[in-house]
Amino acid sequence: MSDTAPFPVAPALADALRSADRVVALTGAGVSAESGVPTFRDAQSGLWAKFDPLELATPGAFERQPRLVWDWYGWRRELVARSRPNAAHVALAKIERRVPDFLLVTQNVDGLHAAAGSRNLVELHGNIARVRCSREGTPVSAWQDSDPQWPPRCPGCGAFLRPDVVWFEEALPAGALARADHAVANADVLLVIGTSAEVYPAAALPLRARDAGALIVEINPASTPLTAIADHALHGRAGDIVPALVAATWPADGPSRTDS
Ligand code: OAD
Repeated sequence: MSDTAPFPVAPALADALRSADRVVALTGAGVSAESGVPTFRDAQSGLWAKFDPLELATPGAFERQPRLVWDWYGWRRELVARSRPNAAHVALAKIERRVPDFLLVTQNVDGLHAAAGSRNLVELHGNIARVRCSREGTPVSAWQDSDPQWPPRCPGCGAFLRPDVVWFEEALPAGALARADHAVANADVLLVIGTSAEVYPAAALPLRARDAGALIVEINPASTPLTAIADHALHGRAGDIVPALVAATWPADGPSRTDS
């Protein structure tokens, strides 16, 4: 958490969130930055400042250098396994308990939303903790890694194993985008948190919500292509602002709308 003053939340925003029946949050790498998981596009610290996505996160990269790709995801899997949800993840799980119809749509593969207690969750880009067969897509939970030249192989068919994440040039998991799209098209409020909004189709979701009349709230220390269409652009860290938003909207002793 920040050592600065609590983040000021406009009363109109707190009122809108409190009275909303359908809320969607769209998150990106920035929501996990304070958990120590690197973002992709931040100038100094982002992964794509140090690594070339075309050499690590495409089907062609996996064909050319499968072990390099396997190892890079293995490194990230270990990094994520050591990280813990931060105040923003926890606050989003609280929002789910307060709002009658809430969906969390994330581009993140780190599993930190689920670890914080979010349940109505769509992982648009997969989950780095999972591994699957590169040929059949079958999930695989145990494998032998005996040949340092190649990735481990599927115990069923012998094809290479790969991370269960979406690479550039690949389709999103079946149903995930449709569920997210339906939710944003019916949302009263859309919270867009920690995403550069540069990667499609996820980046189209806020435009869809705006066209359908949702209130758009962006939380990000930087401006993005979405800032211009946001009704509220809250500039700062997600770990400071999302808890402040929850505190302003549902003061601590207030009853939950879903409490019985
Ligand atoms: P990016 O790295 O593109 O953007 C991260 C955003 O988080 C930036 O706009 C930052 O300003 C913001 N940010 C940084 N620290 C923050 C903090 N503490 N609180 C809030 N915001 C913060 O990440 P994504 O938008 O998630 O896809 O990237 C989208 C996709 O591109 C990823 O899912 C991944 C990547 O290539 C695939 O791997 C397919």
